[in-house]
Amino acid sequence: MLIAGNWKMFKAQAETRAFGAAFSPPAGVDVVVCPPFTSLAAAAESGLTVYAQNVHWAEEGAYTGEISIAMLKELGVAGAIVGHSERRQYFGETDEGTARRAAAALAAGLRVIACVGELEAEREAGETEAVLRRQVSALDLHPGLVVAYEPVWAIGTGKTATPEIAQHAHAFIKSLLDVPVLYGGSVKPDNAAELLAQPAVDGALVGGASLDPDSFAAICRAGLLS
Ligand code: PGA
Repeated sequence: MLIAGNWKMFKAQAETRAFGAAFSPPAGVDVVVCPPFTSLAAAAESGLTVYAQNVHWAEEGAYTGEISIAMLKELGVAGAIVGHSERRQYFGETDEGTARRAAAALAAGLRVIACVGELEAEREAGETEAVLRRQVSALDLHPGLVVAYEPVWAIGTGKTATPEIAQHAHAFIKSLLDVPVLYGGSVKPDNAAELLAQPAVDGALVGGASLDPDSFAAICRAGLLS
């Protein structure tokens, strides 16, 4: 069971330290936080397991605005998210680029959460499985790889996939690639238990509700029970 908190562009260093001081997750669940780049060191110093929100595939080079694997490792970062839908939607990231980021990070010993998920219009058009197949097929199996199923219509909207929708999509993803699959999209303390109880749901990638130490700890406890 892996519960990961994606802080997106929230929490500078002082807020990160305050979170670290207030957060007490239960033992028995793998818990990870994914702060912005400038807060990674502060999070690691708080004793949290820390992943970055993105990582580049090149060792170094002329890639303005990007961050390398070695730069992350130097801060004690253990993994990275790649291919988040906000990266795809707002910053033009592609399946191919996501796969390159994942492959380089995994080869260098970072763990990776690779995000996939359909848009609302794609679900309504009956294209969910085709989209997931395209996104998942770009990735190669690796022991450090976890996939996060994040239906884009459920991210930050308060609309959560039903446990049945999540179970169905996760089982489909696992039929393509035998990896743990996290659910993401408006996971909250009051819906986490039923989502995490689904047999193909191996954890959660939590956005908004991971910003508050008490609500994130409550979601982690829900993971412990399922
Ligand atoms: P949310 O975000 O929990 O705020 O919907 C999830 C995510 O984007 O990873």
